[in-house]
Formats: sequence, structure tokens, C-alpha cells
Amino acid sequence: MIAPILKGKKVILKPMEPKHAQARYKWYNDPKVARYQDFGSPSEEKLKQAIIKRRKSDDSLPLVIFTENNELIGEIQLREISHRHKSAKLGINIGETNFWNKGYATDAIKTLCKYYFNKLKYNRIGLSLLPNNIAAVKCYQRCGFKKEGISRKAFYSNGKFHDDLNMSLIKDDYKKIKITKIIWQNKLMKN
Ligand SMILES: CC(C)(COP(=O)(O)OP(=O)(O)OC[C@H]1O[C@@H](n2cnc3c(N)ncnc32)[C@H](O)[C@@H]1OP(=O)(O)O)[C@@H](O)C(=O)NCCC(=O)NCCS
Repeated sequence: MIAPILKGKKVILKPMEPKHAQARYKWYNDPKVARYQDFGSPSEEKLKQAIIKRRKSDDSLPLVIFTENNELIGEIQLREISHRHKSAKLGINIGETNFWNKGYATDAIKTLCKYYFNKLKYNRIGLSLLPNNIAAVKCYQRCGFKKEGISRKAFYSNGKFHDDLNMSLIKDDYKKIKITKIIWQNKLMKN
């Protein structure tokens, strides 16, 4: 899928390019970033080839996240895009950990959702994550994602099976969030 350039309040999302493999390699080998995920141990060359493949594929939308000061801090991707069911899966990493807890992931997710629901007119974004990844759960909930349930022992890591938490955001919920926001803004203006 052709990747756009999207501007949020704090971030700019740009198409992922092969030159970004170096940064991804660093992020995936940072234990803090990799803690709740299973990246395997891909080489920088393998990551580069994966970017080339995904850029050509019709079922993924790989983007990198820049700050307003043009610092490359992470990646956000849609995978398994189904044009038939108008759905996709979301993944995000703020690889530069000194940028954590500053609202960058929230803004990146909101910016991509706006494009996905309003411009592409798709209907559902799903994801799964480890339930103890509290920062990620909070961040997704703030963007309107709802918990759907648990896939029992679906994730194998460090010699153990773990439960996976499934979350999703659908277009109807997304519209409701926007309407609530407008009502609140109107209330604030009147007061
Ligand atoms: C999860 C991740 C994307 C969040 O990025 P971020 O830019 O720090 O997110 P935000 O600042 O927008 O929001 C994070 C929220 O989690 C909260 N938080 C962070 N660490 C927390 C913790 N240990 N316990 C409770 N809340 C925590 C923050 O306070 C913030 O919520 P608040 O604004 O309501 O206070 C980032 O930590 C990351 O890339 N982690 C490694 C990769 C990963 O786990 N990706 C998600 C896989 S599904």
C-alpha cells in the first residue's frame, strides 16, 4: 500500500525506507524495547530486506515516526491489511526510550487512525499484546481501543507460553470519540 506522509500534533509519520534498517536494528536489540515482544534476532540486512518487501506489499503500511524537530524515534505499522474486510493489525515501537511517556505514541496512533478511518474509510484496527505491557495498554485505551479478550497461551517467549490480550478500535467507536470531543469543546466554549 502506498505510504503517505502524515502530520500529527507532535509527530510526523513518513514512509519507512531501507535506510531506516539501522535504527530498527538498534531498537530491536534494546532489551527495554524488546521486553514485551518477540522480534527474534534479525540482522540489519534482514530488516532492510523486510522493509523492501513490505513497501511493495499491498497488505502492509510501514511508517517511521519523527518528532517535530526531525528526530527519528520509532515506527508504526499496519499489517495484514484486508481490503475485503476493511481491517488491519497495528504495531508500534518508540525505539528511542528517552522519548517515552511524552505522548509521542498516543499522537502517532491517533494520527494514523485519522488517516485510516477518515481517508481510507476502513472499519477496524486490531492488535494483540502482553497484558502486563501497561504503558501500551494505557496508550491504546487513550486512543479509543477496547479490550476484546484473551487468547490463552498464544505467545511463546523465554521458554514460556503467555496469554495475549486482544484489543480493537472500530469505526463506530472512533466516530463516537470524535463526537464526544466536539460536544466537550462546545461546552467549554459556552462556559
Ligand atoms: C508502549 C509505547 C509504544 C508507549 O509509548 P509512549 O510514547 O511512551 O506512550 P505515551 O507517552 O503516549 O503514553 C504512555 C502512557 O503509559 C503510561 N505508563 C508508562 N509506563 C507505565 C507503567 N510502567 N505503569 C503504568 N503506566 C505507565 C504513561 O504514564 C502514559 O500514560 P498517561 O499519559 O496517562 O500518564 C512505548 O513504551 C514502547 O515503544 N515500548 C516498547 C515497545 C512496545 O511495547 N510496543 C507496543 C507493543 S504492542
